[in-house]
Amino acid sequence: MRKAIIAGNWKMNKTAAEAKELVTALLPKVKNAKCDVVVCVPFTDIALVAELCRGSNIKVGAQNIAWADNGAFTGEISAAMLKEAGAEYVIIGHSERRQYFGETDKSVNARLKQALINGLKPIVCVGEKLEDREGGNTEKVCKTQVVGAFETVSADDAAKTVIAYEPVWAIGTGKTATDEQANETIGYIRSVVKELYGAKIADAMRIQYGGSMNAKNVDSLMAQPEVDGGLIGGASLKADDFAYIVNAAK
Ligand code: PGA
Repeated sequence: MRKAIIAGNWKMNKTAAEAKELVTALLPKVKNAKCDVVVCVPFTDIALVAELCRGSNIKVGAQNIAWADNGAFTGEISAAMLKEAGAEYVIIGHSERRQYFGETDKSVNARLKQALINGLKPIVCVGEKLEDREGGNTEKVCKTQVVGAFETVSADDAAKTVIAYEPVWAIGTGKTATDEQANETIGYIRSVVKELYGAKIADAMRIQYGGSMNAKNVDSLMAQPEVDGGLIGGASLKADDFAYIVNAAK
């Protein structure tokens, strides 16, 4: 049995003062969660949110990580910086990073390895664009992204990784994949992991759905056997909405 994992992706939202308000409201609402609960917050909120969540069941994550230890990489953030600030998880290869900041399967792979070497728990995002889905290329695109992300990653390390399947056309659009589309594509991604690492690792790997997951659709999405949780953008910015999703995940 895989334990569900619900992660909020705040994206570029919430100043430290706003983060404090949200997390303070969230803590009591999710304290009896049956799933793993993570909030992936802007870099400037990590230390504060980690402090607020200390001793609770909410874990803190970042939204990016550099592939190098340190050096001349203006605008990047290192594993050591993230860890010292209190991050335990890190989102890698989100479609917005791929779309707006030139992230490629190669850079995703390098960032993933850096996270793993440093003991951070990665959430690797993959997913097709609308034209891929309409052109019947969903599986091809997801396979290329998964194979690219995990190139030369060992089985032991792969076992520590979470994948988020996020169809790009469903992100922030209010358009959710149907339960069947989510289940089918996640099942396919699991089969790719099986080809790479074998059945034991594939069966144990947690693969989330992301893309307009909310209080209205969480129950039916989570009822799908392949869906092991969610990566939640918009609905993670309100304590009541995120808590509802967390408490729906068993
Ligand atoms: P959304 O974002 O829930 O707002 O669609 C999900 C994500 O981008 O991780």
